[in-house]
Order: sequence, then structure tokens, then C-alpha cells
Amino acid sequence: MSGASEALLKVEDLSVEFRTGRGPLRVVESTSFELAPGGTLGIVGESGSGKSMTSLAIMGLLPKGGRAEGSIRFGGVDLLSLRESRMRAVRGGRIAMIFQDPLSSLNPYYTVGTQIAEAYLAHHPTAGRREARKVAIEAMERVRIRDAAARVDQYPHQFSGGMRQRIMIAMALSMQPELIIADEPTTALDVTVQAQILSLLDEIRRESGAGLILITHDLAVVAEVAEEVLVMRQGRTVEQGATREVFRSPSHEYTFRLLDAVPRIDDEVGELKRIGFAERPGPLANAGVGIGEERA
Ligand SMILES: Nc1ncnc2c1ncn2[C@@H]1O[C@H](COP(=O)(O)OP(=O)(O)O)[C@@H](O)[C@H]1O
Ligand SMILES: [Mg+2]
Repeated sequence: MSGASEALLKVEDLSVEFRTGRGPLRVVESTSFELAPGGTLGIVGESGSGKSMTSLAIMGLLPKGGRAEGSIRFGGVDLLSLRESRMRAVRGGRIAMIFQDPLSSLNPYYTVGTQIAEAYLAHHPTAGRREARKVAIEAMERVRIRDAAARVDQYPHQFSGGMRQRIMIAMALSMQPELIIADEPTTALDVTVQAQILSLLDEIRRESGAGLILITHDLAVVAEVAEEVLVMRQGRTVEQGATREVFRSPSHEYTFRLLDAVPRIDDEVGELKRIGFAERPGPLANAGVGIGEERA
């Protein structure tokens, strides 16, 4: 291992290209970032900017026709050159992904307990069924599903959207991953539930020591959860660095506009104020960002 490989994840010069009828289409262009063990990175940008393709490239799950170039080193190993069989062991074992829509990630025909247990057994092949069930119940308790011992035998449709996302987090947890990638994990949920899921995710991350890549278009969330931020636009990195710095003095018009789109919910205003973002006049005021507006 070289001295430079202390990062949990080191992405260098990552590009993603699709073959199309009209020739190659680059949807991610020369993206580089790294994540320390236990670190948090927020990836933000409008829809279609390449956030999901970046994370799917890390997981080796690009859609058909997509190809990744560059280097993605995870724990010192280049994931892009890994055989599929070895990549499968990394995926879900050492890296867990939480998607936007928990319903499409859960199998409707199996109880949630069976699915969490399966995820655990896949990476703990010597464990027995009884142990896996116990792990499933404990994981459900950790994500605060009440009456977990009974609900473990229920099916996905018997849970609300927010509860299903908790189950996805429980499933990720049961694998004891070193890295969790959450791709817009709350977009499909009610606003009131979103904050609960995000703080749960943040708490779980702290407890487990896993690194977290949180993809979202919600900059207030990034302000709260992520130490580092990467701002993407049309496949390119527009800015990156410590969240505090980037939000305090964004250097690109695009980032100003993203910040301007943050809904003005009291909590979020409070949070942006806390990081020193909202109090600052100057470039933000000039850009017409109104997040710092006082509320009675
Ligand atoms: N299978 C595909 N073939 C061609 N282009 C695709 C495919 N999937 C996604 N794209 C394009 O890749 C770009 C980035 O998509 P994505 O990473 O999903 O954006 P984001 O997650 O930031 O909303 C988009 O312009 C999208 O249209
Ligand atoms: Mg996406």
C-alpha cells in the first residue's frame, strides 16, 4: 500500500460514457474525489448532472451500454479492474447502497426479516438462520422500528414509505459496510419523514464508523450532514471542498443558484446560519440568495 492510499475511497479522473446511436455520450467527465474512513461526502447537482452514474460506477452497476474509465480505489483496490465475482463480494458486503425508492429495492414476495437475514447471510456464510433472524430484528430495532420482533415477519407493503427506507438502512447495517452510498434516499418520502430518515442515517453512520456518500439535490441536508461536498453539473465537477467553505463562499454561479433553491424551512435556515453561510453579505447577497432572511 502506498502512502497516498489512506483514503477509504479514492476516485480519480472518473468518466462514464454511454454508447448511443449517435456515438458516445459522456455523462460523467473527469471527476475526482476522496473519502476518509468514516468521512462524509455530499454530492449535489440538478437532475441529470451525473450523480447517480458516479455512484453506480463505484458499485459496478452502470446500466447496459455504460462504461467507466479512470480509477476507483477502495481500500487500496481498483474496483474498475475487479472481476465481477469479486465485485459482487464488495457490493453489499463492504459497500452498501441505499436507493431513492425502497419499494423497488425490496422483494414484495418475501418478509422484510427474510430479506435482511439474506443480506446478512450472503456475507456471513457460516451464520445460521436463527442468528440471521436475530440480526434482522436487532437491525430493525436500531433503525427504530417499533415491535421489531413481530414486524420482522411482515411484507414490504405492510410498511409506510418511511418505514421501508428504514428497512433498507437496516439491511445495509446488517452487512456492516465500510461505505454507505445513499442516492437521494428521501426524495420519494413525505417532507416530515425526510428529516427523520436523514438524521437516522447520520446517527447510524456515526455509530458504525462507516463512510457515507450522500447524493441529494437538497443543499440544506448536505450542510447538516456532510463535511465535504462535490457540486456536479452536466457531468462535470463545478466545485468541491469543505462544505462549510463551499457554502460560505461559492465560487460558481451554478452553486449560488442551487443554494437559492433551498426551501426556506426554519430548521434549514437555522442550520445554514449555524455554518456561517446565511449571515454573510457580499457574493451571496449579490447573487440574490435569500436563505438568510430572518423569520419572525
Ligand atoms: N442508459 C443510459 N443511456 C444513456 N444515457 C443515460 C443512461 N442513463 C442515464 N443517462 C444519462 O446520464 C446523465 C446523468 O444521469 P444521472 O447520473 O442519473 O443524473 P442524476 O443522478 O444527477 O440526476 C443524464 O443526462 C442521463 O440522461
Ligand atoms: Mg440520480
